[in-house]
Amino acid sequence: MHFSLPNGDRDKLLQALINVVGNSVKYAKNQIQIKVSLIRNDIEISVMDDGDGIPETLLPHVFHRFVRGKDGETGLGLAISRAIVERCGGVITAQNLDTGGASVMMRFPAPA
Ligand SMILES: Nc1ncnc2c1ncn2[C@@H]1O[C@H](COP(=O)(O)OP(=O)(O)O)[C@@H](O)[C@H]1O
Ligand SMILES: [Mg+2]
Repeated sequence: MHFSLPNGDRDKLLQALINVVGNSVKYAKNQIQIKVSLIRNDIEISVMDDGDGIPETLLPHVFHRFVRGKDGETGLGLAISRAIVERCGGVITAQNLDTGGASVMMRFPAPA
């Protein structure tokens, strides 16, 4: 898979990814999976963990600023990730896996 991003976008998208992976590192029991796919001209990155998942009441609001769980920190990480991904023309979504853990997917256009 060969693609490159403009430097500014690359740094910002790395920050977006770090925020998501940082959450998984915090909440995973044993395992995190990061899956990267090229779908048509989009790069899709999914970060999945085997923790308890995002509380269902939080799930619809989890990308809003200051929304956090009871053991959360600033509640800003995912809001920042969303702002970055959307500014790069992408989308970010969160869901819980059937197996119980959290899955956060970001998808953005690969530069031609
Ligand atoms: N992988 C995850 N597993 C379980 N809960 C999560 C996960 N990622 C995020 N959350 C929940 O979403 C909230 C918001 O996440 P975030 O915006 O990164 O803020 P923060 O990490 O500062 O609390 C967290 O406080 C936590 O309750
Ligand atoms: Mg966080």
